[in-house]
Amino acid sequence: MVRLATTPGGEPAGIATIHPATRLRGELGLPGDKSISHRALMLALLASGTSRILGAGDGADVRSTAGIARALGATVDRVADDGRTVEYRVVSPGVDGLRQPAGTLDCGNSGTSLRLFAGILAGVPVTAVLDGDASLRRRPVARIIEPLRAMGATLRALADDSLPPVTVTGRRPLRPIDWTTPVPSAQVKSAILFAGLRAGGVTRVRERVATRDHSERMLRARGVNVRSLPDGEAGVVIEIEGGTAVQVMEERVPGDPSAAAFWLVAGLIHPDAELTVRNVGVNPTRRAIIDILARMGGQIEERRAGAATAGRGDADIGEPVADLVVRSSDLRAIDVAPAEVAAAIDEIPVLCLAATQARGRTTIRGAGELRHKESDRLAGIAAGLGALGARVAVDGDDLTIDGPVRLTGAPTDSLDDHRLAMTFAIAGLVAAGRTTINRPESASVSYPGFFTDLERIRP
Ligand code: S3P
Repeated sequence: MVRLATTPGGEPAGIATIHPATRLRGELGLPGDKSISHRALMLALLASGTSRILGAGDGADVRSTAGIARALGATVDRVADDGRTVEYRVVSPGVDGLRQPAGTLDCGNSGTSLRLFAGILAGVPVTAVLDGDASLRRRPVARIIEPLRAMGATLRALADDSLPPVTVTGRRPLRPIDWTTPVPSAQVKSAILFAGLRAGGVTRVRERVATRDHSERMLRARGVNVRSLPDGEAGVVIEIEGGTAVQVMEERVPGDPSAAAFWLVAGLIHPDAELTVRNVGVNPTRRAIIDILARMGGQIEERRAGAATAGRGDADIGEPVADLVVRSSDLRAIDVAPAEVAAAIDEIPVLCLAATQARGRTTIRGAGELRHKESDRLAGIAAGLGALGARVAVDGDDLTIDGPVRLTGAPTDSLDDHRLAMTFAIAGLVAAGRTTINRPESASVSYPGFFTDLERIRP
């Protein structure tokens, strides 16, 4: 049984208590993909006219982006919502009509909002301050400040320009740059591409390891000339031609594969489980978690594979989707290389949980970026899964997990981090006795309704 303290609004607050489930059965819908939802709102802001976004994620992060789009001059209406997805209608004056915001732009907990809006604002002649909560104020921003300055924008931040709040004064036109990202980061790449829209000429971003390519696909779908070419051994160079107007569009956002990962792992590690997860985004640059779990011996069947479409006219918006059926499986340990870590960066916490139930030693190499997420996730995973009896060690940027281990319920601390809260809740489904999770309400940053879904799949 799941027991939650609740706020007056009905959201879990304070402490969640999870008891083991005897069986897991059922079908799950998902929140709209968080990465795609942010970008859909941002691109709707840049395009002049009316855009419609169906099935957007309705977590706090995407709401932060919607709020910033409003502050910059768009009308962003919530046309309908079902608790975890929302339909937006955005009417924007377009990038050339954006207004000087009246106050600080509040990104809340959302690193994507902060970094991508910095890229957008770099090419707009206003001065804006991007800020957020205590967690966001600990996240590195030099990685976006340096390239955007090289393009000609003025940016300032705290602690020697390394931490938010970030003040951006944009200018037009920006200078095109040829930039190699220092760490694999779709946020840094996207910030540069969005600024590249306002540069005179071709801007290039080189990634040593390819990251999620939603910005590239979505820009292309809106008429912008963006090319991706192989660069070196595992790398890619993305070229964007500045000066093209972003077109308005209507689109349907696929379900979030990072949210799906919790149900995939729940189904695999529980001894009596069969779960169907509907409409999961399976973009090749986001599906690494599915392939890693399959390599561990996980039974994951893909059904009804197709394309996410526009709301009307069924146009393919360039994002593949599938239904996934997952069943209890005997897992074996594997080695996860740094390039795969980059491709499954948000799913590493729940992958570690899967590894606690796999035979042998799982090694996850090159996971240092996890220290710079909503919390220090390396420390949070080791402490939380360790409290449940898992054998998890952090050695530099590498994680090792020895399994299988019989988990035992205990208090865990989410560190106010949505992905840790949900990972420990899934662990509670298989741990003996009572697992508690501190500050579980953080789940609603990306997955409002997560704890309701957790209840629904345990008959
Ligand atoms: C995101 C990119 C990733 C990911 C984040 C969303 C995006 O961050 O962790 O949740 O939408 O571009 P980095 O690219 O900084 O690793």
